[in-house]
Amino acid sequence: MEWLLLGVQHIALDTIDSTNARARELLRDGAGEGTVITASHQTAGRGRLDRRWIDKPNQSLLASYILEPMRSPEDWGGIPLLAGLAVLQALQSITPVNLHLKWPNDVLAGTRKIAGILVESGMLSGRPWIIAGIGVNLNQREFEGEYRLPPTSLLLESGRWCDPEELLTALSKTLSLRYTSWQTEGNGPIVEEWMRHSLMFGRSISLDDGDAARVVVAEGLTPEGALLVRSVDGREETIYAGDVSFTYEDPAENAGG
Ligand code: BTN
Repeated sequence: MEWLLLGVQHIALDTIDSTNARARELLRDGAGEGTVITASHQTAGRGRLDRRWIDKPNQSLLASYILEPMRSPEDWGGIPLLAGLAVLQALQSITPVNLHLKWPNDVLAGTRKIAGILVESGMLSGRPWIIAGIGVNLNQREFEGEYRLPPTSLLLESGRWCDPEELLTALSKTLSLRYTSWQTEGNGPIVEEWMRHSLMFGRSISLDDGDAARVVVAEGLTPEGALLVRSVDGREETIYAGDVSFTYEDPAENAGG
């Protein structure tokens, strides 16, 4: 029997505002670690930086996992990273597809975004919680509307149609393995593996943290999972995920977000 922690309790919903919002309500009602909430459609899907996550019914995996980590909040920067790795690995277990990671938590195929992750956290009755919300584009043939980042889907990248349930099963396994090893070993192994799956490092990026955008070179990640950059005047800076977005300086490679 395969060992599984996350996703054993599965609450499958039809249309909902946001699985992350619903996960928070269920947490208050007593849902515990490992519960996953999925929906076939969200009417108010949320993305990072107060953006929206738009979907059409049954074309994506829309899932929120409830976590109750033992590690202290200084290590929680590892969660978006391990979730990104788990998504990448789960997709690649279904079909061969070339994917890479963009800090802090986007999964890309070339210059296009195939999956996004929204990690929210807090305390409830003195106990810490994290909700890892994951949206993966699976079966879209086209996307309508305006996107800050050009989107893509598994179908467009590989020709393979995928039942969201199939990806959920694969993802619950990859996420369980990574989360369990993070609980005992912390961020070190995750940070190292994440960097191997990213194309960002050594490249110029235009960083937007609310003030004027500025060009820096992405150098690496800190043990906490923050981004290390070097500015044009040679200063090294640590960037935290909160309010930052960036675009690559080379427009042909642009995959900002
Ligand atoms: C991003 O790329 O900005 C993060 C997008 C996260 C979207 C997922 S879909 C399931 C879960 N529920 C939400 O409302 N958002 C996340």
